Amino acid sequence: MNFITVKTYEELSKKAANIIAAQIINKPNCVLGLATGSTPVGTYDILTKYYEDGVLDFSTVTSVNLDEYEGLDGANDQSYRYFMNKNLFDRVNINKNNTYVPNGCATDLVKEGKDYDCLIKELGGIDIQLLGIGLDGHIGFNEPEDFFTAETHPVDLDPSTIKANARFFEDESQVPKRAITMGMMSIMQAKKILLIANSASKKEIVEKAFYGPITPLVPASILQLHPDVTVIFSEK
Ligand code: PGA
Repeated sequence: MNFITVKTYEELSKKAANIIAAQIINKPNCVLGLATGSTPVGTYDILTKYYEDGVLDFSTVTSVNLDEYEGLDGANDQSYRYFMNKNLFDRVNINKNNTYVPNGCATDLVKEGKDYDCLIKELGGIDIQLLGIGLDGHIGFNEPEDFFTAETHPVDLDPSTIKANARFFEDESQVPKRAITMGMMSIMQAKKILLIANSASKKEIVEKAFYGPITPLVPASILQLHPDVTVIFSEK
């Protein structure tokens, strides 16, 4: 594991963007595994700038996102599809038909999960998976449980996740209680993992995840078994 501590969010964003940019340059038709949340916003801003400066071309890139809230379609400004369009896809020359986010409005989320895993396989797997980490140690929306779940699957959000994500909504009651998330199989099969965490409040969970025991009660701890993980952490 490559654990990089930096001083500022700007530095974190730049390092993360450079790793993703290197992946795109190295393999222009790569599959990027992408994440939502507040942490990757700066990374997406820098990737956009590289595109605007003419140094990065997304035209043959494919992306698969980690997760989506149940019941929110892409037109809903709280959906993760909307977030991705706004923060990255609408700002660069990626072909939107090659950008995938699980469908949180599918009538059968279990089937949607199976189809999503098949899609990732058909694409040849993920070249680099960008991850944030929740205060409870979740990656994607894989919440602390008694077991790791392999497949993309529907999930009940942990009360701490609902509370943490309430900042994006008018009030906590509007946060969806369920979501669909990529499971540990597609994440762990990604060729490279890039986890970014910023804020002093994440320090304890990051330490637990990467230096504590491997346990589904700290879902990110499974990453200790991955052969190519980079963690970038900033307290500020
Ligand atoms: P954040 O979320 O980037 O908004 O802190 C990370 C996560 O919950 O995975």
